[in-house]
Amino acid sequence: MRILSGTQPSGRLHVGNYFGAIRQYIKLQDEGHECFYFIANYHALTSIQDKAELERITLHVAMAYLALGIDPQRTVFFAHSDVPEVAELCWFLNCVCPVSLMEKAHSYKDKVARGLPPNMGLFDYPVLQAADILIYDSNLVPVGADQKQHVEMTRDIAQKFNRTYGQDLLVVPEAYIVPEVAVVPGIDGQKMSKSYDNTIELFTTPKATQKRCMQIVTDSTPMEAPKDPDKCNVFALLKLVASPQELDEIAGRYRAGGYGYGQAKKRLAELINELFAGARGRYAELEASPDTVRDVLREGGRKARQVAQATMERVRSAAGIVVHR
Ligand code: ADP
Ligand code: TRP
Repeated sequence: MRILSGTQPSGRLHVGNYFGAIRQYIKLQDEGHECFYFIANYHALTSIQDKAELERITLHVAMAYLALGIDPQRTVFFAHSDVPEVAELCWFLNCVCPVSLMEKAHSYKDKVARGLPPNMGLFDYPVLQAADILIYDSNLVPVGADQKQHVEMTRDIAQKFNRTYGQDLLVVPEAYIVPEVAVVPGIDGQKMSKSYDNTIELFTTPKATQKRCMQIVTDSTPMEAPKDPDKCNVFALLKLVASPQELDEIAGRYRAGGYGYGQAKKRLAELINELFAGARGRYAELEASPDTVRDVLREGGRKARQVAQATMERVRSAAGIVVHR
């Protein structure tokens, strides 16, 4: 069973990214599956056109993943751009993909509505994502619920390609969406997302985390009054980090009254700081030796590229493209 997922480097990673995505990647790796995880810097070109920013954020994501537990001995961990064959496969897929399929993409419409310039890269984003998945013969694609449509499109494109050029040429993958952490709320109660400036960052100082937690929006129920934990943004985040016993205890305090939101926020910050203390330490070490990170990516890129080149040979030959070398 081959697992593949990608992360677009587009901002500093936050608690929503961890619980919605990264934690699952690490779990799948630790269960012994053959995992390919990559940093989708080609995808980031659709929205970041600043050289220094793209380089910085690509390295941030690489260091963050390694610090959080991606193990390059067991997992093929690499940067998109170290396998340029994906851009080539994207072209083959473009030539069988109906424009009408792309016109249905929610993410394109959402991104344009948010003010991103509607360039062709943004429109074609799902086809490049399909190439990312199909080039490694991936079986399972762990992603957040927002990416479900992209994996469905990948399946449609792979099936169309196979109908055109030969059955079983490309492996048709499945999405793997973890239901229980569907959406992590941000400090304003909307989905946590860097686009809403409501995130709690993973790699920052304990003090900054505490400050951010104190800013979580709550209602104006007075300290003494009973409160409903299920209507509280702080409690929703506590559910991710507190043990079941502590969560029960805190829920009891909410309902009993005399427990303020400020106390809950303080405890939330402590728990987040405890949970990520080890990863933050490892991140600081990696930050001090970026060449180690580059070595890891180079080696991962080499392994990934071998698989990608084999797929491309199959694809070119099936489509009638002869390489004159
Ligand atoms: P952002 O919304 O900050 O731009 P991305 O779209 O880059 O985050 O998301 C990267 C991964 O993290 C995706 O798989 C996405 O589903 C997951 N993710 C991001 N925010 C959340 C959230 N608030 N809750 C659950 N998963 C999330
Ligand atoms: N589009 C994904 C996101 O925004 C990132 C991504 C790019 C990806 N290529 C992929 C995810 C291939 C899974 C598989 O989160």
